Formats: sequence, structure tokens, C-alpha cells
Amino acid sequence: MAYSFKDKIALVTGAASGIGAAVAQLLAASGAKVMIADLDAEGASSVAESILAQGGVAKAIEVDVTDAVEVEAMVDATRRQYGGLHLAVNNAGIAGASAPTGEYPLESWRKVMATNLDSVFYGMRYQIPAIQASGGGAIVNMASILGSVAFANAPAYVAAKHGMVGLTKTAAIEYARHGIRINSIGPGFIDTPLLSKNLDAATLTAIAGMHPVGRLGTASEVATLTAFLLSDDASFITGSYHLVDGGYTAQ
Ligand code: NAI
Repeated sequence: MAYSFKDKIALVTGAASGIGAAVAQLLAASGAKVMIADLDAEGASSVAESILAQGGVAKAIEVDVTDAVEVEAMVDATRRQYGGLHLAVNNAGIAGASAPTGEYPLESWRKVMATNLDSVFYGMRYQIPAIQASGGGAIVNMASILGSVAFANAPAYVAAKHGMVGLTKTAAIEYARHGIRINSIGPGFIDTPLLSKNLDAATLTAIAGMHPVGRLGTASEVATLTAFLLSDDASFITGSYHLVDGGYTAQ
């Protein structure tokens, strides 16, 4: 057990796959009761079942994080299920279309902003009061290296992730004296279905080579940083953006 989240109640969005699933598994293995939230209800159930099979506590819930009413219901369901909320990870996200700004499809812009940025506002809008009512806790928002640097042909993704970093800082200073720490994470390119579904093998090899360490990251490497930021060991860390990128942005 890397961290002790005994008696802590955690909510992870986008937890049916990739980074979110790895975060949920690690929090559960560290003693948290976890709500696995995702648009993919079947995938969420299977992650919850695998946690239960390993002796952890988990429950799945279907949610569309672009819908504020559903996000509020997700937070309420977590409180009802486990009796409170201490930890939240706003992780659900999509890649969106690949095109330069002058040709970017309008519908993809809207969908990426809704999924990758509106969702984080909706999440915190309802998680913060729930965490306050439970005596405090911590939130991690899953940004990207593209929360601090550009990437051609991904204007919506880059804008949403930069927005998320600013939103995180603002919420963090608002609640710093109220027992809630809020941080964002900037992963480099991580080997998950988000990449394998959208990019061919040659592009993936080229992208891996863009990281000084010479490879893609793993979901578990991102989960480890997430768990640290949620833990009491990170008690003086709030409002900041934490890279886990194999040196990508150091270049
Ligand atoms: P993934 O595609 O493996 O998992 C994303 C999950 O989000 C899926 O289970 C999907 O069903 C869910 N989701 C999508 N739209 C949703 C919606 N409207 N409501 C609820 N759930 C929804 O992706 P991955 O790689 O694990 O990404 C997780 C987060 O990490 C995303 O925010 C992504 O932008 C971010 N990230 C990923 C990187 C990568 O290279 N894989 C790098 C940096 C950041």
C-alpha cells in the first residue's frame, strides 16, 4: 500500500479506462472507497468488479461529465453510497479532431471544450461543497503537458487543458483555507486507449521519441503522482501543476 486512504471516499471520472482506471485501482488498493464514474457503464462496472475481486471497495456509476445535472447526481450518488466525499479526480477526457485552427471542425471544438473543460468546472462545482461537508480533502484535475505547451492540430485540446490549469489554480486559492487542496497534473503522452484509438503505430513511435526518456509513459506512473497529490503527504501542495512527462517539456 503506497498511501493510506483508509476511511477516505474517492470519486474518479473517466475511470473505466487508461489513467482513470489506474488511479481508481491505486486508491482502492490504498484503502479508499471508490466511485468509478464513466460514460462507458460496462467498462466502469468491470473496473469496479476487478477492485472488488482484489478485496477493495468500489461501485460504478454511468455519467456524462458534459452534463451538469448528471455531474451533480454523480456527486450526490457518491455521498449517498459511502456517506461523504474526500477525494475527487476529474480525469474524463477526449482527444478530439486533428486539424489546424483555420480548419478545425466547430463541432469538435465544442465537444472537446465540453468534455475536457466544462466537465472540470461542473465536477468541482459539486465536489467542493460535498468535500467541505465531509471535513475537507483534495482534488486532482487531469490536465496534460498541453496545459502548458502547444501542439499543432490540437487547438481545442490545448485550449481546454490550459483552461483547466487556470481553473485549478483559482479554485485552489479560494479553498486553501477551507481544508481542500486542488492541483492539476500534466502527463506526457501515456500509453492508453486514448492514444492507441487515435494514432497509428508509426505516429506512436514518433511521439514516444519526443520524450527524452525515449518512451511513452504508463497509466500507473500517472496514478502514482495522483495518489501522492491526494495524500496527506502533499499537505503543503495546492494550486500547482505537476508534470509527469519523461522530460518532454524540459526541452
Ligand atoms: P482513455 O480514453 O483511456 O480514458 C478516458 C475515459 O474517459 C474513457 O473511459 C471514456 O469513456 C471517458 N469519457 C470520455 N468522455 C466522457 C464523458 N463525456 N463523460 C464521462 N466519461 C467520459 O484516456 P486516458 O489516456 O486514460 O486519458 C485520461 C485523461 O488524461 C484525459 O483527460 C486525457 O486528456 C488526459 N491525458 C492523457 C494523455 C495520454 O497521452 N493518454 C496525456 C495527457 C493527459
